[in-house]
Amino acid sequence: MALVPSHVASLTPYVPGKPIEEVERELGISGVAKLASNENALGPSPLALAAARAAAARVNLYPDGSAFELRRALAARLGAPPAEIFVGNGSNELIELIVRTFVLDDEAVLTSAGSFVAYRLAAQAAGRTLVEAPMRERFHYDLAGLQARVTRKTKVVFLANPDNPTGTWLLERELVPFLAAVPEQTLVVLDEAYLEYVDAPGFPDALALRARFPNLIVLRTFSKIYGLAGLRLGYGVARPELVGFLDRVRAPFNVNLVAQAAGIAALGDVDHVARSRRLVLEERPRLAAGLAGLGLEVVPSQGNFLLADLPGADGQRLFQDLLREGVVVRPVGGYGFPSALRVTVGRPEENDRLVEALRKVLER
Ligand SMILES: Cc1ncc(COP(=O)(O)O)c(C=O)c1O
Repeated sequence: MALVPSHVASLTPYVPGKPIEEVERELGISGVAKLASNENALGPSPLALAAARAAAARVNLYPDGSAFELRRALAARLGAPPAEIFVGNGSNELIELIVRTFVLDDEAVLTSAGSFVAYRLAAQAAGRTLVEAPMRERFHYDLAGLQARVTRKTKVVFLANPDNPTGTWLLERELVPFLAAVPEQTLVVLDEAYLEYVDAPGFPDALALRARFPNLIVLRTFSKIYGLAGLRLGYGVARPELVGFLDRVRAPFNVNLVAQAAGIAALGDVDHVARSRRLVLEERPRLAAGLAGLGLEVVPSQGNFLLADLPGADGQRLFQDLLREGVVVRPVGGYGFPSALRVTVGRPEENDRLVEALRKVLER
């Protein structure tokens, strides 16, 4: 008798960005710059931190299993009823929850090759068929290719907008015909983890599109601009019927008490959000220019990160060489970009350090 089902035996675990402590321990250095996981370079909101500290005094109690106050705060912010809002232990949990809740044994999950790996992992961990459409022009979702792969068995389509790790994005005029072509019983998940860093004209208003497309589920996170990646908090917006089913499947206390309190405070800290956005909007083009100046092809990005490709290079090797210079970036060979690196937009001095370290590494 097999210990686990074959779809579990064949899983490759998610490879996270290297933690700072691990790099410092392994290399015997300190002051490492971590530009590997698209975290907020300014840290958490001070208001969220104060709320988290206060909440920590009550962790002998179970959290509110319905996250009532947090969902109410989100509802007020988003202009949607609380019944349309669901929360999770990071949006990653919500990705898995959506697959577990809605995708039947013989149904499939569709996404783009080279996109966020959690979609693939969620489908595979649940033993569901995964269909991936190749990207067009290397770094862009191919909506026509995705549409061509939608069948009666396609239950969930995952689209990251902006995409990770490429940073590329879909415009409303591209997305709407796709949504119109997808059958009603196919759920389309628009993962907007990086929405708050978008400044491109023509970007879709996903929440508004829900009125026309009730099969749309929007996912967002507190891990990026809100600076709470370590607390694990994500949320989604979907029609109440769908939220009701997700609620039945999720673990009873899936969002902890500290995260609920910090999330509410972070939502209210508009200054911190504005500062965090300003940093990325100012530094993203500056870092892109620095990397391009070293001969890398920098993919236009709407996230707090850049994909930079050096054709012919070995991204894994560049990653290792940069580690030795005290800069942690993300190799993306596993995403099908073996000659590229994904780098988070950090504080100005971190970005300068990355460019200088890369210059040194490339001169060798
Ligand atoms: C596209 C995308 N979706 C979701 C997530 C997961 O975020 P969370 O920390 O909320 O699980 C990430 C994190 O990197 C991401 O890039």
